[in-house]
Amino acid sequence: MKPIQVGLLGIGTVGGGVFTVLERNQDEILRRAGRGIRIHTVADLNVERAKELVHDRAQVVSDARAVIANPEIDIVVELIGGYGIAKDLVLEAIAAGKHVVTANKALIAVHGNEIFKAAHAKGVMVAFEAAVAGGIPIIKALREGLTANRIEWIAGIINGTTNFILSEMRDKGSDFATVLKEAQRLGYAEADPTFDIEGIDAAHKVSIMSAIAFGIPMQFDKAYVEGITNLAAIDIKYAEQLGYRIKLLGITKKTSTGIELRVHPTLIPTKRLIANVEGAMNAVQVFGDAVGTTLYYGKGAGSEPTASAVIADLVDVTRLMTADPENRVPHLAFQPDAVRDTVVLPIGEITTSYYLRLRVADQAGVLADITKILASHGVSIDALLQKEANEGESQTDLVMLTHETKEKNMLAAIADMQGLKTVVGEIVKIRLENLS
Ligand code: HSE
Repeated sequence: MKPIQVGLLGIGTVGGGVFTVLERNQDEILRRAGRGIRIHTVADLNVERAKELVHDRAQVVSDARAVIANPEIDIVVELIGGYGIAKDLVLEAIAAGKHVVTANKALIAVHGNEIFKAAHAKGVMVAFEAAVAGGIPIIKALREGLTANRIEWIAGIINGTTNFILSEMRDKGSDFATVLKEAQRLGYAEADPTFDIEGIDAAHKVSIMSAIAFGIPMQFDKAYVEGITNLAAIDIKYAEQLGYRIKLLGITKKTSTGIELRVHPTLIPTKRLIANVEGAMNAVQVFGDAVGTTLYYGKGAGSEPTASAVIADLVDVTRLMTADPENRVPHLAFQPDAVRDTVVLPIGEITTSYYLRLRVADQAGVLADITKILASHGVSIDALLQKEANEGESQTDLVMLTHETKEKNMLAAIADMQGLKTVVGEIVKIRLENLS
């Protein structure tokens, strides 16, 4: 059978990986897909560099629209990134009747609803395995492998840059700014790391997982997003002493009142497997009512790991190309008319446990005042750590873990404690999840 013809938009790190792996594993891929998969044309603004990468094994053009317009091309792979030109090109490819594979998490998280609607109307597939956690087949797991379950929650380390930074901060006891500089020098962090360190990249990914897990539209705009820029080395150390690690988690949960959708630094018990995911690795833990806990681990970025996911999508699209569109796996796991616009809870309405660090005057009655305020807001203390004041100092750190409470209760208690004369400086609050 004639090979499937692919048009590649962008041949940077991931595109290069797609090209290499498709060539290297072509025999295995052919045996799995039932047809060869061939890169017909590559579009890249840097034509010379693209030509060097593909030699003469594919055509190279500078105009992506020439790829979309080419009737010989069956699948368009978008690897440009961002939601500018990439969005126009994906919508144009769909309008031209091409199937689309993309690694673009920002595009799917922000414009997915519009893109899937257009694809559904046109009867084409849009596949995006590489958009979440790189080489880990988490979209496939959520959409197909766990399809029997009511998924209850997902918690993921889905940004390698920040996990690398947090691992280094813990290992070396260094502060955030020092480790970030080192990560940039080593090439682990981008020159502009904003999307990673501010949690935006993780929020794109968790928004996508949330939609697929719960059958809701993409709602990135409703996600609560807090990065790691304000995290202090001392809190990583205290957390460790209490038996916890701090990770930047993307969390989504289904509750009786709505969906929680949030990204923030989170204490998790060190004894959980996911707490031991170090360096730039990713991991996603999913809880389904039938299966219980499942955990997926692997590389969340990089040339060949991401190419692995892109090619898996190419094989999927190839296999399903001749299927009636109604019989394909729905983009968001649930049939389009069964997607429900369930409310995403504002952060004040979420329920979680907390780590608190207060700098307090080391004098009688301080602890009593604090516990009284917490009790008055219904916040129950789970653990308490008070450090001896350093010699010659009259202040000390008080560290507390609380039981679960609504965030708005915690915020009210913090505001009251902040008003005590004996509490010095800003109270530090970090959310805590037991993931049990
Ligand atoms: N910048 C991301 C990370 C990889 O650090 O994990 C691409 O999403």
